[in-house]
Amino acid sequence: MTSIQTLSVPKQIDDGKHVFPQIIVNDGSLTSADQCHAWIKQNLTEIEQHLEQSGAVLFRGFPIDSAETFDEFSDSFDYPNFTYKESLSNAVRINFTERVFTANEAPKDVEIYLHHEMAQTPISPSKLFFFCKTAADEGGATPLCRSDMLFSALQQQMPELAQEFISKGLKYTTHMPAENNANSGQGRSWKSTLSVDSIEQAEQKLADLGYSWDWQKDGSLKATTPVLPAVIQMGENRQVFYNQLIAAYMGWDGVRENPSKAITFGDDSDIPIEGLELINSLSHEFTFDLEWQDGDVALVDNYLTMHGRRAYSGERKRQVLVALAID
Ligand SMILES: [Fe+2]
Repeated sequence: MTSIQTLSVPKQIDDGKHVFPQIIVNDGSLTSADQCHAWIKQNLTEIEQHLEQSGAVLFRGFPIDSAETFDEFSDSFDYPNFTYKESLSNAVRINFTERVFTANEAPKDVEIYLHHEMAQTPISPSKLFFFCKTAADEGGATPLCRSDMLFSALQQQMPELAQEFISKGLKYTTHMPAENNANSGQGRSWKSTLSVDSIEQAEQKLADLGYSWDWQKDGSLKATTPVLPAVIQMGENRQVFYNQLIAAYMGWDGVRENPSKAITFGDDSDIPIEGLELINSLSHEFTFDLEWQDGDVALVDNYLTMHGRRAYSGERKRQVLVALAID
């Protein structure tokens, strides 16, 4: 197979020019990791064009069946690796290879709400590769949402609020436990999150990153980011709602009841609840649920597209692995 072959499925989102996500299929002629590698090299420009226009590309029917073959596939794009270890992600994960790790170890009945990976931290990956090793019996889709479309809709409906997000930015306050807690979607300990061994090192790292912090009696750490953008500009005419608001509001402990304990504007003022509710409900319009098949790989532009995880059930242990890149 030399050229790119695309597939249409129901519920793809069509902006008039491009579909989201773009789906590229193997016609059966690529049967080995080496052939995939050569094919990616040959078609990289076109694949990247699809990614830029669409925000996410799904590769279906390619011969990928293990962490190792996924590692090779994602490595063929030659994007610099963004390791879990050096990230400030708050999810508990397990590494399989240097670049490949589990997506999120949260229990299967827990929904992970839409977010841009690590947008609540000063350092985030630009591209995400997901690999479905084993799909769930039921549920377990990865919702993908175009945040530029979401932001235009917000500008239409609440223009003043949209403007406040642009001008004020956001601050996030997160709670890092003393020990890893795999039962939470954000249960990574402060030692692991910050890659440090002591309180002194933790404080040095937080100070370097511009955080403020407060140690809790139980040994956990409450940390507040410096002002981070709520909206980023991509190219000339795309404004993207690049942040962690939906996941924080919908999914973090106690935040729906009291949002300002975790999310505020950059000047510490409160974000109105009706605005957060509207953002969450608008996001459904621009979301495609990626129903995984074993062997699927998705390449997601993390700056343009949010992702999450639907709850799932059944006997099969759903396994979706991730590799992150920054370029
Ligand atoms: Fe994520």
